[in-house]
Amino acid sequence: MSAPAEKILTRNFHRPDSHTLATYVETGGYTALPKALAMEPAQIVDVVKRSNLRGLGGAGFPTGAKWSFIPKGHAGPVYLVINADEGEPGTFKDRYLLERDPHALVEGMAISARAIGSALGFVYIRGEYVQPWRRFRAAVREAYDAGHLGRGFDVVVHQGAGAYICGEETGLISSLEGKKGWPKLKPPFPAIKGAFGAPTIVNNVETICHVPHLVNRGPEWFARLGTKTQGGTRMYSVSGRVRRPGVYEAPVGVTLRQLIYDFGGGVTGNGTLKAVVPGGSSAAILTADEIDVTMDVDGLRNAGTMAGSAGVIVMDETVSIPEALMVVARFYAHESCGQCTPCRESTGWIYKMTERIVEGRGRKEDLDTILDLSKRGAGTTICAFFDGAVGPYISYIEKFRDEFEALIPK
Ligand SMILES: Cc1cc2nc3c(=O)[nH]c(=O)nc-3n(C[C@H](O)[C@H](O)[C@H](O)COP(=O)(O)O)c2cc1C
Repeated sequence: MSAPAEKILTRNFHRPDSHTLATYVETGGYTALPKALAMEPAQIVDVVKRSNLRGLGGAGFPTGAKWSFIPKGHAGPVYLVINADEGEPGTFKDRYLLERDPHALVEGMAISARAIGSALGFVYIRGEYVQPWRRFRAAVREAYDAGHLGRGFDVVVHQGAGAYICGEETGLISSLEGKKGWPKLKPPFPAIKGAFGAPTIVNNVETICHVPHLVNRGPEWFARLGTKTQGGTRMYSVSGRVRRPGVYEAPVGVTLRQLIYDFGGGVTGNGTLKAVVPGGSSAAILTADEIDVTMDVDGLRNAGTMAGSAGVIVMDETVSIPEALMVVARFYAHESCGQCTPCRESTGWIYKMTERIVEGRGRKEDLDTILDLSKRGAGTTICAFFDGAVGPYISYIEKFRDEFEALIPK
């Protein structure tokens, strides 16, 4: 396969005016919303469940199942929160959706709100995403003027200040509430007690952009595009040492080899693949002989890594894995919110150790110390930030140990 059978989310991206209401409507936009408004909320949830749509922000949780956790018959407000923080290194897909097809998100939100019984939605946009924010805000205004919003469902657009931890759903909610973006312990999950104490569904931009298509074309169509346990297509951000870096939409059963060679055009640098990160910086690294894996949530989990945010980072033979780990470690040390001791202390020390290894000042015990801190700290913190950080710490060292040892003085 060299191209996706069909483009769904990116079908209008080539049009210079793809962000406008006129183009969205001309290409079938806002036809799903009236259908959804005529459906019972439970019917919409059922459509999403049968489609096998899974969250595309990182965790891959089944979307319909998440929606059904909203307490039945809840009397107070229910909120829909869209995660447009897109902080995972190597990931740059949501910005394209916001810039080039913002009405898909508006319509997806209005339908999703109907399904979960919400009258108010928030879109939390990463602070650095100025153009995506402008485009999305303009689309919201157009949607109000055209009467697609404001008749039982309102949207608030909120700009973050640029912190990776505010992509974690409970950190995002704290930030949205005007507090420091610190994650909270789960349970209670946001579906029970989320924004401002009310039941809240947090979903990624791309996840919700799929929703109008599910209503228009049916869950079976969507499920058939994917694998047994995950429906549809998704947008892969392909970067690093490839000839054609970019965002590519493909069915979730596409292989990593196809993404690198067919979509990305093959490896640059010295032309020989050394390693690849398949799902954003928190995903465990794969070696060149591990790329015949499908890119769906379960395919990558079975390969010992994760689909995450589908950020594919390609490294050729000239890339130094210890240096790559140092860069990643610097990011996690900088972004840890500092609430939990294992995360705050280990991310800082692991960065210091990787840095001294790269600078030729490493100590014999450093590698085992990093592995020990990673393995003992994982699962002990409030949120999954540190669990994500240990993906690279452990896999880079275990798969490329010789390269690290070669830099440590004997
Ligand atoms: C440290 C951390 C950062 C995250 N950053 C993002 C992000 O930038 N965007 C996103 O959609 N999800 C992010 N997530 C996942 C969210 O917590 C949440 O699972 C997701 O927004 C749910 O949406 P989905 O089910 O549609 O994927 C992050 C998770 C963690 C632990």
